[in-house]
Amino acid sequence: MKHSHIVGLGSYLPERVMTNHDLERMVDTSDTWIRERTGIERRHIIAEDQCTSDMAAEAARRALDDAGLDISAVDALMVATTTPDKIFPATATIVQAKLGGHGFPAWDIQAVCSGFVYGLAQADAMIRAGLFRRVLLVGAEAMSRIVDWSDRSTCVLFGDGAGAVLLEGRAQPGGVLGSVLHADGSYRDLLKADHPHPPASPDRKALDFGRDAAGIAAIEMRGNEVFRVAVTKLGEVVNEILQQHQLRKEDVDWLVPHQANIRIIQATAKKLGLSMDRVAQTVREHGNTSSASVPMALDALYRAGRLRQGQLLLLEAFAGGFAWGANLVRWSKQGETG
Ligand code: COA
Repeated sequence: MKHSHIVGLGSYLPERVMTNHDLERMVDTSDTWIRERTGIERRHIIAEDQCTSDMAAEAARRALDDAGLDISAVDALMVATTTPDKIFPATATIVQAKLGGHGFPAWDIQAVCSGFVYGLAQADAMIRAGLFRRVLLVGAEAMSRIVDWSDRSTCVLFGDGAGAVLLEGRAQPGGVLGSVLHADGSYRDLLKADHPHPPASPDRKALDFGRDAAGIAAIEMRGNEVFRVAVTKLGEVVNEILQQHQLRKEDVDWLVPHQANIRIIQATAKKLGLSMDRVAQTVREHGNTSSASVPMALDALYRAGRLRQGQLLLLEAFAGGFAWGANLVRWSKQGETG
């Protein structure tokens, strides 16, 4: 049986930065409130002429470059996104075309902020089963396109960006050790972005999420309730995955959490007995980039030269649905940069 090793990483952040002070001019909020309640100071915002697939393709290119491979080496492409360019075709097929790839399967994953964690579980299972040798997995989001910019309780939280990993099946043990996934749809109304049903008449405007999502869908969240469930479920899932692999909390070298709120991250780190200097933290600069946050946080650790072969990484995420999960990775990539 093959094991899935991460052999390339890349990320992309759009140029435009929006600070908390910029938001102070848009809604009734303050830099202090946002920093104290969320840990966020700034976020990146996609350019008007860009869409999710542009960011995804750039992150994917960087992951391929990092692995020293090109698109012809890829056997499957998965894009985790909540903000697809269009209802269909899948953003992954658009990314495939932008990368110059042909023929291999490409599809999207929708598990909101848990999309990357869900995707890593799927990619790993398919590599283990011998279906593919190399899978390119991207998390990419233009969250700014589905934010209600007049709602101070949500618009301060989100940002845009993309992160990618290239996975390769190898006989040597290590890489992705396993995953645990959960969902509970009874919570579906606590965090959602509704959009109208397909046009009921030919007069209705066609939907184009890539460029014109504003007014089509907007994030609604009961933040306080989401917060409480997130802290509980993340505490449970990190224990569950460690138990499954007969590992102890002390064995974890790095927590690579979804970056929604520094207080949620701190709560999970505390439950693991990990000090915050063993936790990947990008929420301050990126905000919540949904499915892009875990691969971007992982890439940030990697680019900073913090990861060593043999270290144990615990990835986790919590999302609308609710959908949540975790992956364990034994770091095996050679040639750390930094
Ligand atoms: N600026 C200033 N005040 C704000 C504000 C803002 N941007 N947003 C909300 N407030 C106000 C509220 O109106 C409320 O005022 P009130 O007490 O007069 O009614 C007060 O701040 C407290 O609001 P509350 O929602 O209880 O704050 P909180 O401590 O729960 O923090 C979140 C709000 C959203 C930061 C927090 O609940 C959270 O992070 N939730 C989880 C979000 C998340 O992780 N979502 C994604 C999962 S993938």
